Amino acid sequence: MTATLIDGKAVAADLKQKIQENVTYLKSEYGVTPGLATVLVGERPDSKAYVASKQKACAELGMNSYGLPLPADISQHELLTQVQALARDSNVHGILVQLPLPEHLDAETILGAIPIEKDVDGFSPLNVGRLSMKNREPLFVPCTPLGCLRLIESTGTQIEGARAVVLGRSNIVGLPMAFLLLHRNATITICHSRTRDLPDLVRQADIVVAAIGKTRFVQGSWIKPGAVVIDVGINEIPDATKKSGKRLVGDVDFDSAQAVAGFITPVPGGVGPMTIAMLMQNTLTAAQRAAGLIK
Ligand SMILES: NC(=O)c1ccc[n+]([C@@H]2O[C@H](COP(=O)([O-])OP(=O)(O)OC[C@H]3O[C@@H](n4cnc5c(N)ncnc54)[C@H](OP(=O)(O)O)[C@@H]3O)[C@@H](O)[C@H]2O)c1
Repeated sequence: MTATLIDGKAVAADLKQKIQENVTYLKSEYGVTPGLATVLVGERPDSKAYVASKQKACAELGMNSYGLPLPADISQHELLTQVQALARDSNVHGILVQLPLPEHLDAETILGAIPIEKDVDGFSPLNVGRLSMKNREPLFVPCTPLGCLRLIESTGTQIEGARAVVLGRSNIVGLPMAFLLLHRNATITICHSRTRDLPDLVRQADIVVAAIGKTRFVQGSWIKPGAVVIDVGINEIPDATKKSGKRLVGDVDFDSAQAVAGFITPVPGGVGPMTIAMLMQNTLTAAQRAAGLIK
């Protein structure tokens, strides 16, 4: 069997098209332009690139983006003051603080200053708490797992009753992913660095989500024939054929897994584009809520 590729770029493009239509409607009918504030502290090249791609997506979809580049040595008090000002600004519907912050800053306190209704990253303990409970609706769900869920749904695979293995238990990806699948009535196993017999657990899974940050860790021989494999990992490896001298690969050994799986995401071009699309969706939702159009 050769797995069908799940084209994250195409699924994201469809979603962005719908978001753009909603943004146009919101502007023309209600005079509201969704606005996303991006707080970037310091000069980390990866963080700068992520923020730039989020701002670019806002521009493409007709949303406002408010960039707040701040010096790496900003004090906790000053950063808090800036985030609090964004919290009060009615033109700003979503606030994103790019992580990681420099070590002298307390990320939890800073993130705590983002009101739940502007928490478009879905990282606030209140949103996470609601996601982890039965019959409670978070206002926002973290963008990467939400994007993964969309990709799984795009395959037409029945999630209800499926066995799903999530590799990784981070607050940003693994845990929310597991809850999203659980709420869709899958049976979940969450694996982490201390899990025993990992290959055997993965072999039982109809759906595998790998989010561990380990280059080509999951082998094709671990994959159940026909399974859906979602590779969240972003790992750099040297590649002399590239101008940059490197390229990105996932947490799954793509070639061996593709030979066994039913569906598989590529890296790049799988989960990455969905993460940004879901951030745009969350920002639109925040603006629609602020305008009283949805709950
Ligand atoms: N495509 C995207 O948009 C996107 C977005 C976010 C993240 N990512 C990528 O996804 C990956 C994971 O990100 P993250 O933020 O969730 O990482 P993280 O916070 O470092 O968490 C990694 C998780 O993997 C587990 N783990 C590590 N080694 C393992 C092993 N050998 N076997 C089983 N589990 C193991 C860890 O277990 P313990 O808890 O026991 O330490 C931890 O739960 C990274 O490559 C990151 O770059 C991609």
